[in-house]
Amino acid sequence: MSAMSLESVRYSRGSLQVLNQLLLPQSSQYEPVRGVSEGADAIRTMKVRGAPAIAIVGSLSLAVELTSSPPQQTSDLLTFVCESMDRLVGARPTAVNMKKAADELNAFLAQEAKKPGVTVQGLTDSVIQWAESLLEKDVQDNRMIGDLGAQHILQTTTAPSGVVIMTHCNTGSLATAGYGTALGVVRSLHTMGRLSHVICTETRPYNQGSRLTAYELVYEKIPATLITDSMAAMTMKKRQVSAVVVGADRVVANGDTANKVGTYQLAVLAKHHGIPFYVAAPSTSCDVSLPTGGSIVIEERPSQELTDINGVRVAAPGIGVWNPAFDVTPHELITAIITERGVFTPAELKDGLSQNP
Ligand code: MRU
Repeated sequence: MSAMSLESVRYSRGSLQVLNQLLLPQSSQYEPVRGVSEGADAIRTMKVRGAPAIAIVGSLSLAVELTSSPPQQTSDLLTFVCESMDRLVGARPTAVNMKKAADELNAFLAQEAKKPGVTVQGLTDSVIQWAESLLEKDVQDNRMIGDLGAQHILQTTTAPSGVVIMTHCNTGSLATAGYGTALGVVRSLHTMGRLSHVICTETRPYNQGSRLTAYELVYEKIPATLITDSMAAMTMKKRQVSAVVVGADRVVANGDTANKVGTYQLAVLAKHHGIPFYVAAPSTSCDVSLPTGGSIVIEERPSQELTDINGVRVAAPGIGVWNPAFDVTPHELITAIITERGVFTPAELKDGLSQNP
């Protein structure tokens, strides 16, 4: 096994590398992404995954291509940016972060292009700088989410010997530019000395929990236990779970939340056991243009993710397979949504976000 690393992305101007998460935890291997085509590929094949990391890698893949092959005409730049962002958005449709990045960049570019005396080189540089700024902003947002979430949980829970958090999928450094969202809340609780234990689910079929979250927790020496997804109910009954904290791929206006498949069942179970259920997500994962979760497009992934493990077929040949990568948790099962702009109940979310820009 080569040296472990928790950086999902390594970037310097003109050079982008992503940690190939398909190989974790056995091997920590960085692979170059030289442009938009390789960026879209890394996202589609899930070498890089997690809603914020998808948008960051997608946008930086555009930046490296612009650095190595700068367009000569402003019209070429505008077309290239628009087409590239469309292609990156299409690579994985459920997480809204890439789409929001595309909309923001296109609007920013249109505005910059109107400035007097603007040159194609100047515009290209602005696009590259815009993409680079996403890295730092994401880490700042995650630290804020972590601290706000930890404070909120501590204020609303009585757990003198520290809180027990159950989490699902991977929402840590590997899914973001660093620190993480739901796992950021865990990190902040740990730093405050108020975390007793983390329970992470395996997260079938891609095993983000057992391969990636477990990897991060072991790396940071955070006390944690891995369970299979099917042990969640029994764990809630037998262990003193203080709160469930998960991430999000898209939170819509009424608070309905698309996240890794299996999130919905955890929310149902949490309700049954009287355990608060939190979604931790940056505002870039919130899509108030959709009124309810019914219209979120849910990505369906190849059947081999269910039928095979490490390339070995484990399911009976001939069986039909359905493999949606995400589910939608209805807002009535969600206690609050922890964002970098504040902690909001689902009913408060839309106004909360617009009043705290
Ligand atoms: O299919 P994945 O691994 O990209 O799914 C990831 C999740 O569902 C995460 O919970 C979500 O993207 C938030 S990551 C901070």
